[in-house]
Amino acid sequence: FKTLDDADVTGKRVLLRVDLNVPMKDGAVTDRTRIERVLPTIREISEKGGRVILLAHFGRPKGKPNPEMSLEPIAPVLSEMLGRPVGFADDCTGPVAAGIVAALTDGDVVLLENTRFHAGEEANDAEFVDALASLGDVYVNDAFSAAHRAHASTEGLAHHLPSYAGRTMQAELEALEKGLGNPERPVVAVVGGAKVSSKIDLLQNLVARVDALVIGGGMANTFLAADGISVGKSLCEHDLAETARAIVEAAKAAGCEIVLPVDAVVAREFKAGAASETVDVGAVPQDAMILDTGPKSVEAVNAWLDRAKTLVWNGPLGAFEIEPFDRATVAAARHAAELTRAGKLVSVAGGGDTVAALNQAGAAADFSYVSTAGGAFLEWMEGKALPGVEVLKA
Ligand code: 3PG
Repeated sequence: FKTLDDADVTGKRVLLRVDLNVPMKDGAVTDRTRIERVLPTIREISEKGGRVILLAHFGRPKGKPNPEMSLEPIAPVLSEMLGRPVGFADDCTGPVAAGIVAALTDGDVVLLENTRFHAGEEANDAEFVDALASLGDVYVNDAFSAAHRAHASTEGLAHHLPSYAGRTMQAELEALEKGLGNPERPVVAVVGGAKVSSKIDLLQNLVARVDALVIGGGMANTFLAADGISVGKSLCEHDLAETARAIVEAAKAAGCEIVLPVDAVVAREFKAGAASETVDVGAVPQDAMILDTGPKSVEAVNAWLDRAKTLVWNGPLGAFEIEPFDRATVAAARHAAELTRAGKLVSVAGGGDTVAALNQAGAAADFSYVSTAGGAFLEWMEGKALPGVEVLKA
């Protein structure tokens, strides 16, 4: 794929797809990581004299304007972080957008309203793609985290304009290649999170590609139950017992070791500071629920990390958002961070709660790469081709 090194952006109108789908509360951005990630590409294009026209989505407004999903509150945050004015147009096509784009001078930056306010975005329909394309001379995609969507602004545009990967997209693809594409072995995958149902494809792909698969979080309960272990009141998808057993079988066949918890932290209530105890997985009380992976299990995970050359991590090992059930996630994340810092491990993490969990552990900065992608990271871990990436390679 081509990068900004190959692009001539000076004096050009550059349609730059970014991911500004950031967590917000009461109209304020609560986590700026995704915004930080796109700053280098915006700066580079602007400094080279390109006219930066930012395209992004927010939420899932289903093709209709929705004031609650406006990108307008993001423009001042972006402006503050960039240290330069960022204009805003309250429509991404039509006369409003055309007017603001026509008024841009070299180096200017403008943000256009949520592309998903138009049904043509998700439909990737020709008319909408044309409307967007008419605003630019060049297309740069820096939104890996939206690259699993074949939408007008993530895929369609690349068929119409000279197309390039932005710096974050580039860094992401390079890191992912080191993680699973062409990794140094042994490779350990850590997969956590609540449910097996959302990660079946991922687990199936991983067992064929990694040397050890650590399963933690709520989803481990489903595997334990499938093995005849009573998990009390824990979150558990009993209907997926067969699927869990099939994944274990596939792992055996592929020579991948599945690492399940041997002990667990249990409580009767799911709230901060709830009375908890650590028990072996065979001794979970009937009225209790598993809320974290236990310390013996964490030792086993860390021992695998010691042997590994590469780690891919998706999902927390316990209910990390509520203390004290963050301990396993924090301990394993810190160990991985230490090994990475010492140059012994390449560590790539991403997806959903993962960034938040690693940040909480103070480990994110030491990981080799932390992706801000949720669904896109999962699909990549599932071994799927991402339309927004494929089109850049074409
Ligand atoms: C994300 O937050 O994962 C991306 O911005 C994609 O959002 P989507 O799942 O609504 O397509």
